[in-house]
Amino acid sequence: MKGRILTGDRPTGPLHLGHYVGSLANRVKLQDEYDTFIIIADVQALTTNFEHPEKLPGDVRQVTKDYLAVGLDPEKATIFVQSLVPQIAELTIFYSMFITVNVLRHNPTIKTEAKQYGYQDMTYGFLGYPVSQAADITFCKANLVPVGADQVPHVEFARKIARRFNELYKPVLAEPEALVGDVGRLVGLDGNAKMSKSLGNCIYLSDSPEEVKQKVSMAVTDPARMRRNDLGHPNVCTVFAYQKVFNPGFVKELKKACETAAIGCVDCKKRLSAELNALLDPMRERRAKYEADPKLVEEILIAGTDRARQEGAKTIAEVREAMCLDYF
Ligand code: TRP
Repeated sequence: MKGRILTGDRPTGPLHLGHYVGSLANRVKLQDEYDTFIIIADVQALTTNFEHPEKLPGDVRQVTKDYLAVGLDPEKATIFVQSLVPQIAELTIFYSMFITVNVLRHNPTIKTEAKQYGYQDMTYGFLGYPVSQAADITFCKANLVPVGADQVPHVEFARKIARRFNELYKPVLAEPEALVGDVGRLVGLDGNAKMSKSLGNCIYLSDSPEEVKQKVSMAVTDPARMRRNDLGHPNVCTVFAYQKVFNPGFVKELKKACETAAIGCVDCKKRLSAELNALLDPMRERRAKYEADPKLVEEILIAGTDRARQEGAKTIAEVREAMCLDYF
């Protein structure tokens, strides 16, 4: 039997190259080998965006198009909407009976994010979203969760919940493991440690070739290299960091050329945007099909959500039986 993958994203805007190297590339690579479930976590998006639910319908479709554009194949990957799978909400409630408030309060990701959003107090849903994410992962008994490095604590937490459930009741749930992309974390174009929408330092998978060229041309380089003939220091250069990820065959030659000023930043950036556009071109082609026929996107989501509900029904029946809630 095939192993099972579950992973996904909050629908809060377009996906970018950081998502691609962190997780999307792995998902595409593994969809042949694993029965793959991709969750569009709309309820989780509400943990921070509950005042703006009106953005969700558009964002859900946009993320779906990003998935299809990178090459997730709806024949192999079940793409579905979290809030339309009621068994996930049910599991969340059951798990919250044996998870303590202190464990959640000390969760490092929750702490960091609460600080980042400036929360003095936080909602019950925000504090508890790792429990809900554990339900996302376990509702279909996933064993593997391809994610970016920042999500690893949540997957570990889901693993603990599954183990605890299995000990307390019956061994029903699979214990999931995280799989992190080779790159770990992609720096932002501004040299910031992380590519992130809120920092405005992203290249989106949906950017046009011109936007990519423009953004790369503005990217931060070695600050000590002011003039064309100054010697470069590739190890402090953002563009070099990108070349390592997206143009690995060129890196050895480039390092030398930069350090000896044989190549200038303008040419180096041109090479990078050409490489990025070569990566994005097939995505643009696939996306065009869905932009031209939005009904296709709806059909994929409806079918995927249907299948997710069926899987959820199977798991919840076993869970209820294990918890003595199968009364009739
Ligand atoms: N927390 C993830 C993010 O912010 C999104 C997510 C929700 C997720 N449920 C998941 C990721 C389950 C992996 C598995 O990107």
